[in-house]
Amino acid sequence: MRTDTAPRPTLLSDYTPYNFSLDSVTLDFDLRVEATQVTTTLSVSRKAGGPMRLNGEGITLKSVSIDGQILARKDYQLTQTELVLDNVPDNCVIEIITQCNPSQNATLMGLYVSGGRFCTQCEAEGFRRITYYPDRPDVLSVFTVKITADKSKFPYLLANGNMTDNGEAPGGRHFAVWEDPFPKPCYLFALVAGDFDILEDSFTTMSGRDIPLTIYVDRGDAPRADYAMDALKRSMRWDETAFGREYDLDRFMIVAVRDFNFGAMENKGLNIFNSSLLLADGPSATDMNFERIESVVAHEYFHNWTGNRITCRDWFQLCLKEGFTVFRDQEFSADQRGAAVQRIKDVRALRARQFAEDAGPLAHPVRPSQYEKIDNFYTATIYEKGAELIRMLKTLLGADDFRKGCDYYFETLDGTAATVEQFIESFEAATDRDLSQFMLWYEQAGTPVLDVKRDSSSVTFTQSLRATPGQKTKRPMPMPIKWQVIGKDGPVSDPQMTVLNGASITVDLPNDRPDTTLSVLQDFSSPVRINSRNETGDYLRLMGGDPNSFNRWDAGQTLATKLLSTLTGAIESGRMPRVDTALRDYVSALRATLLSPDFDNNFKALTLSSPSVMTILQTRKASDPTAAALAVDWLHRAIGDRLRGDLLPLYNDLQDSGPFSPDAAAAGRRALKNASLALMGASFHPQAAPLALEQFNDATNMTDELSALVTLSQLGGRRVDQSLSRFYEKWEHNPLVIDKWFAVQAMRKLPGGIHDLSDLTEHSAYDRRNPNRVRALVGNFAMSNPHMFHNIDGTGYDFFTAQILDMDSRNPQVAARLAGAYEIWPKLDKARQALIQDQLRAIMAAGPSQNLSEIAGKILG
Ligand code: PHE
Ligand code: ZN
Repeated sequence: MRTDTAPRPTLLSDYTPYNFSLDSVTLDFDLRVEATQVTTTLSVSRKAGGPMRLNGEGITLKSVSIDGQILARKDYQLTQTELVLDNVPDNCVIEIITQCNPSQNATLMGLYVSGGRFCTQCEAEGFRRITYYPDRPDVLSVFTVKITADKSKFPYLLANGNMTDNGEAPGGRHFAVWEDPFPKPCYLFALVAGDFDILEDSFTTMSGRDIPLTIYVDRGDAPRADYAMDALKRSMRWDETAFGREYDLDRFMIVAVRDFNFGAMENKGLNIFNSSLLLADGPSATDMNFERIESVVAHEYFHNWTGNRITCRDWFQLCLKEGFTVFRDQEFSADQRGAAVQRIKDVRALRARQFAEDAGPLAHPVRPSQYEKIDNFYTATIYEKGAELIRMLKTLLGADDFRKGCDYYFETLDGTAATVEQFIESFEAATDRDLSQFMLWYEQAGTPVLDVKRDSSSVTFTQSLRATPGQKTKRPMPMPIKWQVIGKDGPVSDPQMTVLNGASITVDLPNDRPDTTLSVLQDFSSPVRINSRNETGDYLRLMGGDPNSFNRWDAGQTLATKLLSTLTGAIESGRMPRVDTALRDYVSALRATLLSPDFDNNFKALTLSSPSVMTILQTRKASDPTAAALAVDWLHRAIGDRLRGDLLPLYNDLQDSGPFSPDAAAAGRRALKNASLALMGASFHPQAAPLALEQFNDATNMTDELSALVTLSQLGGRRVDQSLSRFYEKWEHNPLVIDKWFAVQAMRKLPGGIHDLSDLTEHSAYDRRNPNRVRALVGNFAMSNPHMFHNIDGTGYDFFTAQILDMDSRNPQVAARLAGAYEIWPKLDKARQALIQDQLRAIMAAGPSQNLSEIAGKILG
């Protein structure tokens, strides 16, 4: 049964401040798995007239009293989602007693049980599942939290801030009291209770304060938290040097949990992490896992200033904390691992996810103006495009003025719930610049197209932006464009910077030599698509000689995308793909990159990795996704064939010796080695299977083990099943690795088709309540198995819809997120368009949650 009401969108323009302030909040938790009682004491003062409205969902009200007087039933109104108190004195103390059932809470919002422990998730609107409260980010208060629980089952009792008291309680129970001196909105509240292994360390801040750091993990997992701890200390130092931000509380804690809807959460002083983004060691985690852990640990830590000390006035301002914090974690990773490679990875992710979102039915501005369910707005646009806007701001202002604006923002808005306007105004005030036009980047959805047209002595840049859902007309936005003129022997100009403010601008070329190529949008200086008149020869030149690493990589991607688009067209019309000059030249340029001593292994591996099926679909109309997938396979095979003589020596040269290190250099070596193995596999090199098998059997790290398994699974045959079983038996007791085992199978062409996939959902290790497991199998199937998901018989879609609806009955947030995979339908051929529309209608007809209905409804249009 649904407790949520019919969709009524929330509007940015409806914002009004809350009519009370909360001078302090006390929460007293009597933790019991099936019936937890929460006593909430609010000391309030009135700021404007009207009743006091408190949000609440899925909890039972036991009593309400004002200044010690229990209210009679006629003195308040209670609905499924609200408690409304009518005659609240101007200054008073309100006490509310509620009860909830954490063991039955499958939404993973509010207070729930995961792996026998209590934990909470309150962002965005989960606190209302704990108690009646003004569950909105602009109501800040200081919290005191008392937790009482069974001592033997729940030896650790944690909440935000500093522990001020603890002791024994009757009946084998104990208690702890936590105080957080920094006023915060309730979405940053956290509580954890249970048994853990702990990893302890400490950090001395720039002003010399000693901060104990503790990471709480499953029994036996403490050694797997070493890398996260190291990343945390590096993040704390980096925030001091790069942004002048020091940690504020007396201690910092991180807890890992297995059941979690998203990645991780920045609760004040008590971050809670999906264990997949915290636990790693060489044998069980891939280099990508290490990289993600480093960036997410940094991200959540950085939120302490961008999100917690300065929070959001309302959820429309979500990018204020998320875009800024993603930008900060990207800059951190760039400093840790190399700026060029980091930029390439960030842009690749932006194009794959955010550009697709911006071009489809779910397109929305970085700051939306309305939503139905805020959980659905934790999107690539808010996060990744939000980060690009901050990056542009830095490019436009220069590093020094950017830092001045940040300092001004931290100084003037500390302790407040701010808006995007206030953020931009900080930069205006600190640097005396007019940034009013920049606000358009926050308001207009869609990816602008930057048209580049040159003649012998000048270049003309023109911007345009197509209509998106709900936004018909668009205005030009300020666009920083970094460019350079490249001749046949290298650059013939310095890097230039042009800011395009209006629709179009023409600038003189620094020197008008014939036979030069423009390298435009170096470092991806604005989040736009380029419409360039460059030809194959120009891209080949840039691939070989652009001094800007990003554009050197991007030239290869552009060539590969063009090849793949042509190949897809050929396959769609039943023609055999052919090796032509363009392909030969492209592979020669790849080869030159591979053999060059000037580029590092990470860069080479990125150059070898081809654009995804998603990227190809973006460049075409009404396309068959399985043809695009065949095109990718075919291109890999052609590259492998043409590099046949190079791959094996490369593979052998890159063999690791010595102890495992997760650092960027070692990871780059593995990435390139495994890319060459994959190409040997794709082209059925006679050595591919024996090498993959040997690597799989002898691997001492998960990157090598998993890469070998993937190559084997693509080669097919009996050895696949043997390797998969072996892998399962070896890792049966490590849930994070078993997620990988499900993922590998979800992404391969299963011999028994969709039945094999259904069988996997019946496997004893499959747990439909665990989001990580469901994402591993169902999410990867929809996003990374085009052959089976888009099977024209419709069985892939049937399977996927059934899984979404099943998930929706327990966890609407995760269900809605899965359903996002259907947003691609307008780019597909007519037959598949019709199939997916039927699926979306079926979802709408099944009585979905409000989360799922918003997503399915918008995708359907
Ligand atoms: N605020 C979290 C972040 O750091 C994301 C999140 C949102 C996690 C909602 C859980 C729930 O990005
Ligand atoms: Zn965040």
